[in-house]
Amino acid sequence: MVRIDYKWVRAQFPTLEEPNENGFSFFDNAGGTFPCRQSNYILFKFYNDYKMQPYGATKNQAEAGRLMDEGRRKIAELLGLKISDLTYGASTTQNFNTLAISLLGHIEQDDEIIVTMQDHEANIGAWERLAKQKDAKLILIEVELDGELDLSHFKSCLSHKTKIVSFTHSSNIIGTVNDVNKIGKMIKEQCPHEPLVIVDGVSYAPHMLPDITALDVDAYCFSTYKTFGVHMGLMFTSEKINRLATPQCHFFNIDKPNYSIFDAAGPDHASIASLAGIADYYQEFAIHHGMNDNGDLNDARKYASEIMHEAETELLKDLLALIRRKNVRVYGKERVEGREANISFTVYGMDSKDVIEALAQKNIGAKYGHFYAYRLLEALGIKDLEDGVVRISYAHYLNKADNERLLGVLSDILPNTKSLALV
Ligand SMILES: Cc1ncc(COP(=O)(O)O)c(C=O)c1O
Repeated sequence: MVRIDYKWVRAQFPTLEEPNENGFSFFDNAGGTFPCRQSNYILFKFYNDYKMQPYGATKNQAEAGRLMDEGRRKIAELLGLKISDLTYGASTTQNFNTLAISLLGHIEQDDEIIVTMQDHEANIGAWERLAKQKDAKLILIEVELDGELDLSHFKSCLSHKTKIVSFTHSSNIIGTVNDVNKIGKMIKEQCPHEPLVIVDGVSYAPHMLPDITALDVDAYCFSTYKTFGVHMGLMFTSEKINRLATPQCHFFNIDKPNYSIFDAAGPDHASIASLAGIADYYQEFAIHHGMNDNGDLNDARKYASEIMHEAETELLKDLLALIRRKNVRVYGKERVEGREANISFTVYGMDSKDVIEALAQKNIGAKYGHFYAYRLLEALGIKDLEDGVVRISYAHYLNKADNERLLGVLSDILPNTKSLALV
C-alpha cells in the first residue's frame, strides 16, 4: 500500500494550508471538496488575463481558446474519453434536466422509466417530470431496510416497456458502491429493447474517479466541485444517446468540434479551462506517489484514485469501529468493503442537529439533513426529514489528526450501546 504524503497533498489545497492553528477539520466533502491550487491557478489566470471571447485573431484571444481546449483535452484524457463525449453544465442537476428534456421525443405513452429510491433528487425529479409529460410510468426501485438496492425488485420491474434506467453509482447517504456493469447486464438480459442506462456518479467520483469507458453506460454524470475543481457538472453521453436525443444546442453548432448537442450555450470559459488543473493534480499526485511518468492521464487517474480510496478507507475503519460501540443506527454497510468513505447515521435519543452543533463547537465541519436524498430517507423510515441523518464524508486530504479530532468529539457525545453500558 502506498501511503499518502499528507504534507505534499495538503500543500495542494490552499484551504488546508499548515499550520492548522484553528484545528479546523472538514467532513462534509460529499457536499463539495476543496479545489486544488492547480485548478484555482488556471481559473485566476483566465479571469485576470484572458476573460474575453476566445478563439479570436489576437494573441490573447487565441490563448483564451487554447486554455479552454487544454481544459477539455486533459479532462477527457483523465477520464479515458473523447472530447466530444463530454458536456459541461452548471451542475449535475442541470445536466440531468437537459438530458431528460432532450429525450422527450424518445418516450411514448405507457413507456417505463426506472429510477431508484436510493437516488439523489437530481436523478429522480428530471425523469419524473419527463414521465409526466409523456404519460409514461415512473418506477422507483425499492430499497432494503438498510438502504441497499432491492435487486430482486429491480429485476422484476425490467421489461419490454423499459425505455430508460437511471441509478446511482453510489448513494450520497449510505455510501454503498453499486456494481454498474452487473446491473447493466441484468437490464440487458431482462429488456429486449436495450433501454438507455444512465448513471449518477456524483457521490462516487470524489473517492474513485472512474474509468467511464469501462462502464457500459449511455450517460454518466458527476460534479467537478466534488472532485477538487470548480462548480460545474460533467456529463458523458454515448453515441447511442446522442443519436436519440433532440439537440439542445444552436442548430449550426451540431457536429462542431467542442460542442456537445446538450450544450445550450457556452458554459463559463474560465471554468472549462480550469478543468486542466484537476487533471494536472491527479497526474502530479500519481507521480509524487511513485508512478512512472508515462504522460498518460488516464493511468494517473487510476493510480491516484486507488491510493486516495485506500487512505480514506483506513480512516473510515476507525470511525466505524467507534460507531459500532455507540447507540446509533448506521445506514448501509457497517464495514468498509463495498462502500466509499461516506457514512450516515442517526443517534438514538439525540437529534442529528445536536451532533453537528457539538462538532462545530470544536471547529469540525459536517452536516445533517436529507441531503436531497429525500425519498431514500423516507424509505428508511426517518420521521423528521429536516433533521435527517448525520453525514460524515471523507476526502483523501484528511489525515489521522483530522480523524482523531472527529473521533474524540463523537466518542464524548454519542451514547454507548446499552449492552456495552451494562458491561
Ligand atoms: C449523488 C448525487 N447526485 C446528484 C447530485 C447533484 O449534483 P449537483 O449539485 O452538481 O447538481 C448530488 C449533489 O450533492 C449528489 O450527491
